Amino acid sequence: MKIVLLGPPGAGKGTQAKLISKGFSIPHISTGDIFRKNISEETPLGVEAKKFIDKGLLVPDEVTIDITKDRLSRDDCKSGFLLDGFPRTVFQAECLDDFLKNREEDIDSVLLIGVPPEFILERMTGRRVCLNCGSSYHIGFNPPKVAGICDVCGSEIIQRDDDKETTVKERIDVYEKSTQPLIDYYDKVDKLFTLDGTKSIEEVFEDVSKHLAQFQVKK
Ligand code: AP5
Ligand code: MG
Ligand code: ZN
Repeated sequence: MKIVLLGPPGAGKGTQAKLISKGFSIPHISTGDIFRKNISEETPLGVEAKKFIDKGLLVPDEVTIDITKDRLSRDDCKSGFLLDGFPRTVFQAECLDDFLKNREEDIDSVLLIGVPPEFILERMTGRRVCLNCGSSYHIGFNPPKVAGICDVCGSEIIQRDDDKETTVKERIDVYEKSTQPLIDYYDKVDKLFTLDGTKSIEEVFEDVSKHLAQFQVKK
C-alpha cells in the first residue's frame, strides 16, 4: 500500500498518518518530522532546514528529495509506505514518480484532506507535538491524557516554532502557490481521493479506512 497525504498546514495529515500507519501497518514518513528531529539534534541538515522552516518557506528540493529517497530505500518500505508532507511541489512529485518507476512501483492513492482556511489557525495555535515520535495533539480537540506529556512515548510535548500566526499565514500562501497544483497533477492520473477534513478525527479516519480497504485488508 503506497499512499500520499496531501492537504494544507493543519489539515490533520500527521494525525491521520499516525492512525493509518498503525491500522494498516505501513511506515509513516513525514519530511516535516525528519526536519524537526534534525533541528532538535542540531545536525547540519537541521541547521540548514531551520532557516527555511522558521520563515514558513519550503526547504530546497535538492535537500528534501534526497532525504525522502533515502528513507524510501529502507527495508521497511518494501511493502508500502505513507508519505506525509512529500511531495509538495510538482517537481518533487515528478522525482517521486521516476524513483518509483525505477523500482517498478507506483502510488496507489493520494488522500487530500480538505479544510477551509478558517479552521486552520485554531488548529495550529492549539497544537502541541512530540519531537520524539511525531505525535500531534490539540489542547482543545485532542488533548493528551496527561497535560504536556506524549501518550505514545512519554516525552514532553511542545508548541512548534512555525505555528506562530505570521508563519502559519506564510505557510498557507506557500501551500496555495506550490502544493495546490498537485491536486490537478494527481487528479489527472485518477489517483486523487478527497476527504472532508472538517469532520472529527475519528470520522475522517473512518472515511480513510473505508477507502483504503480496497488496497489492503485492514489488520
Ligand atoms: P510539515 O510538518 O509537513 O507541516 P504542514 O504541511 O504545514 O502540516 P502540519 O504538520 O502543520 O499539519 P498537519 O496536516 O500534519 O496537521 P496535524 O495532524 O498536526 O512541514 C513543516 C515545514 O517543513 C514546511 O513548512 C517546510 O518548511 C518543511 N517541509 C516539510 N516537507 C517539505 C517538503 N516536501 N518540501 C519542502 N519543505 C518541506 O493537525 C493539526 C492540529 O489540528 C493538531 O493540533 C491536531 O490535534 C488537530 N486536528 C487534526 N485533525 C483534526 C480534526 N479532524 N478535528 C479537530 N482537530 C484536528
Ligand atoms: Mg504534520
Ligand atoms: Zn511521543
